[in-house]
Amino acid sequence: MGRINSFKDLGCLVTGASAGIGREIALLLAAEGARLVLTARRGDRLRALAQACLAAGAPAAYALPYDLADPSVPDELAQMAENHLGHVDVLINNAGFAEPGLFHLTDRSRLMNMLQVNVAASVALAYRLLPGMVERDHGALLNVASMAGFQAAPYTSAYGGTKAFLLNWSDGLHQEYKETGIAISALCPGVTDTEFFEAAGYRNLTGFLSKRMPAKPVAQAGLDALRRGRMEVVPGALNAFSIFMERFVPRPWVAAVSRRLMGGRPFPTRKR
Ligand SMILES: NC(=O)c1ccc[n+]([C@@H]2O[C@H](COP(=O)([O-])OP(=O)(O)OC[C@H]3O[C@@H](n4cnc5c(N)ncnc54)[C@H](OP(=O)(O)O)[C@@H]3O)[C@@H](O)[C@H]2O)c1
Repeated sequence: MGRINSFKDLGCLVTGASAGIGREIALLLAAEGARLVLTARRGDRLRALAQACLAAGAPAAYALPYDLADPSVPDELAQMAENHLGHVDVLINNAGFAEPGLFHLTDRSRLMNMLQVNVAASVALAYRLLPGMVERDHGALLNVASMAGFQAAPYTSAYGGTKAFLLNWSDGLHQEYKETGIAISALCPGVTDTEFFEAAGYRNLTGFLSKRMPAKPVAQAGLDALRRGRMEVVPGALNAFSIFMERFVPRPWVAAVSRRLMGGRPFPTRKR
């Protein structure tokens, strides 16, 4: 089973590194002495983070701003990452966002970009970078899915669908590459304190969405999953327990509870 004993000197590509969970993953990798390529759209943030990573112990950290909603970007980004790192040992597919609301009222172009960023870009990057890992029989792929990937996610259904894809795809890859030296894990966070809800356009958050886990332990759980060769991890004891219990409840019941939990949340205020 693939496991990562140490991230020291490994070449790591982190998507969505300008904020939240991706930023914390980058800083944790830096503290372990990994060499980093950091990507997202906001170049100023990436450059500041690259400096912070160097100060934290990374021997090298490069900021490569890209918009993953552009279908031509993953191949170019993979090539640029290889040019900077020699080769990519670790791919962290973390970039993602949601387009919440009643489905027919959501913004079509944001929906399509969401499918591209959350799903297609993750698949394209892995498709481009896994062959090198297979050849070296060493490497890691962390796919940041979500607790929303385990069941229907009413009022953010398409986003939930992207996370269900990532989770199932990642679990499948974990099994396919089990006999190799490549660790493949899905990180499935619950509600986490990042810019995610702001980016999705929520005005304020109530109920379970206001009780957020800090991003650092979530990031740590993802890297620990690669270290332990785990197929998936749900950070937070209560989150893990609720996902465990879900399997004993019929799917329509779970979906109905999910609807009650999400219904009545303040809807995004972004202009349509
Ligand atoms: N926060 C939660 O409650 C939660 C729960 C479960 C799963 N997740 C997942 O965790 C991952 C990280 O999200 P987060 O919570 O850390 O949210 P966040 O703070 O909003 O960070 C999202 C990251 O994705 C990047 N991104 C968004 N659109 C992009 C694009 N078109 N091209 C390139 N990069 C793009 C953003 O950078 P730029 O804006 O600079 O491009 C940012 O770095 C996501 O996949 C999310 O679905 C989050």
